[in-house]
Amino acid sequence: MAIQITVDEELLRIFAYLNYRVPRTRKEIFETLIKGLQRLEYRGYDSAGIAIDEDSDKDHKNGGRICLFRNRGKVKALAEELYKQKLLDFDTEFEMHFAIAHTRWATHGVPNEMNSHPHRSDKNNEFVVVHNGIITNYKDLRTFLESKNYEFESETDTEVIPKLTKYVYDNRESEDIGFSTLVERVVQQLEGAFALVFKSSRFPGEAVATRRGSPLLIGVHSKYKLATDQIPILYRTYNNSKSGSTTKTQRIETENVKCLHPIGEEKTVEFYLASDASAIIEHTNRVIFLEDDDIAAVADGCLSIHRVERSVGDLASRAIHTLQMELHQIMKGNFSAFMQKEIFEQPESVVNTLRGRVNFETNTVVLGGLKDHLKEIKRCRRLLLIGCGTSYHAAVATRQVLEELTELPVMVELASDFLDRNTPIFRDDVCFFISQSGETADTLMALRYCKGRGALTIGVTNTVGSSISRETDCGVHINAGPEIGVASTKAYTSQFVSLIMFGLLMSEDRISMQQRRKEIITGLQSLPDLIKEVLSLDEKIQLLARELFQHKSLLVMGRGYHYATCLEGALKIKEITYMHSEGILAGELKHGPLALIDKLMPVIMVVMRDPCYTKCQNALQQVAARQGRPIILCAKNDEESMKFAYKTIEIPHSVDCLQGILSVIPLQLLSFHLAVLRGYDVDFPRNLAKSVTVE
Ligand code: G6P
Repeated sequence: MAIQITVDEELLRIFAYLNYRVPRTRKEIFETLIKGLQRLEYRGYDSAGIAIDEDSDKDHKNGGRICLFRNRGKVKALAEELYKQKLLDFDTEFEMHFAIAHTRWATHGVPNEMNSHPHRSDKNNEFVVVHNGIITNYKDLRTFLESKNYEFESETDTEVIPKLTKYVYDNRESEDIGFSTLVERVVQQLEGAFALVFKSSRFPGEAVATRRGSPLLIGVHSKYKLATDQIPILYRTYNNSKSGSTTKTQRIETENVKCLHPIGEEKTVEFYLASDASAIIEHTNRVIFLEDDDIAAVADGCLSIHRVERSVGDLASRAIHTLQMELHQIMKGNFSAFMQKEIFEQPESVVNTLRGRVNFETNTVVLGGLKDHLKEIKRCRRLLLIGCGTSYHAAVATRQVLEELTELPVMVELASDFLDRNTPIFRDDVCFFISQSGETADTLMALRYCKGRGALTIGVTNTVGSSISRETDCGVHINAGPEIGVASTKAYTSQFVSLIMFGLLMSEDRISMQQRRKEIITGLQSLPDLIKEVLSLDEKIQLLARELFQHKSLLVMGRGYHYATCLEGALKIKEITYMHSEGILAGELKHGPLALIDKLMPVIMVVMRDPCYTKCQNALQQVAARQGRPIILCAKNDEESMKFAYKTIEIPHSVDCLQGILSVIPLQLLSFHLAVLRGYDVDFPRNLAKSVTVE
């Protein structure tokens, strides 16, 4: 029988909790897990699961058999079900316990109990695993394990992992194999992308976690001082020696295990493992970001990290970072949706992007993250801006002004297409990787591709410690603050501003450009107030949404600086309202899109007073001549355009190259109101994920 395997990797999230000498009741542990999962809820999911210990010895000091609870539906439903079933005593107290939890959103296989994580090695739940990512060689592994009589119960690729772990454990060479060595052997057999957390009844109170390509971080909390703020990496090397016909693999410990633990007699400590800092931040702001192929293990309350091989450029330790993010920053506040809150945050988020970087008195720009590479950047022959979705649109939006200010050819690329084409890249290219999350798989792969070809790589991300920010040579953090709504809004305007600042930096010593630079810098200074003015149009836009929400389709048309606005506006609309929406370059109107125009088709046209104004007027007339009834997004008091308008949205004037920051906001608001009127969950659009960590 053909097995259908699910590949819904990008939509999986991990949370795990270990308490060591911090007595916790089962109820407390359980609530920590549920809360952790709920913090990850904004990423969307359709099933959830947890693994905790059953009671073992009389005084409950150690965990015993592992219990699995998995459920289709919301985390809340899982919690309610568990309390209702009363299968376990919630008052049982554990001095030491390790629990793992997971949410999944199926894209291929059905969301059901069996496909939910944690997955298990066998009916006794000896090894259980939560996984974010994809195992590409699962078929071979599954065939192998089935030949060894392992019975599979799910349609997922993940299930091979706990089963392989049991296989390696049952066939171990020496009795005293440690949990982390065991995991090391298992992951050596895995291909693909993953973040994994392992739990086992064979190793009670121990945790092992590893990653390759998917994010994973560990939070530490202790009332005692920690022994170190750098965890040294332990490298393990293997010697292969042939004795007779068999090859023996001998492990050589190159150093004593050095680990992270609290100083103090009690050594009480709690560890939180998660794919996302928002699940951890309410417990601790001290975190360690794991790197690809790190194997982190907690045993006896000590966290150690080891790797199999040392490669050139590897850091010898992992630092404990202090996260600045506050929980209130990721909460909704008075808004009905994160997306709405984020749209209204733009006057502040743009200021945060500019803060400390633009000196409005001297008209100078400092980008600390690029300082050391500026000379090299200025010598380059070409700029490439690479991203996906909204981040790509930020590249389209700033291309023209970057061409103008840098006088370099600027290519904008969708990361997936860039990779498909095996695009030629040269050592004197400078490549930008624009990504809100810093984890988007296609963008990350494009980065590795360019790095491999010797180009200088620059990250433009919103996530400190993300893969893209770590793997690029240098970068600019956009500092927009956490963005939770799947549909990106404030990250777009901050990416836009960051790229503009880069253009200003590049043109600092060009005398001929000083006037233009000054104009742009002054424009940046007044942006926050102008954004507020645009946001005050909210009610008007809501009324407009009432007229439009029952339509099937909505076209957004413009050109020049506003082509990106059209693409981004249409993306917002389709993402959260599920209406068909297309961003159309007005210059292409007569090459096809004109055929769509009639008196019923809603069209939004962006017509601003910039060098494309006359051409836009022309497009407007063509639409009007086909009985189209355009809704016009234009400058204040633009009587000329208003003559053709069915409705108008007037926005304040800014410098031409910054105007796109203002023109996109009415479309963000419109998509929000349309989605609300159509009854959809704005923050969790169907079929989409905030961060797409697979190809
Ligand atoms: C997903 C999100 C989009 C986002 C895109 C790129 O598709 O739903 O909102 O624009 O990924 O994400 P990034 O984190 O790389 O900016």
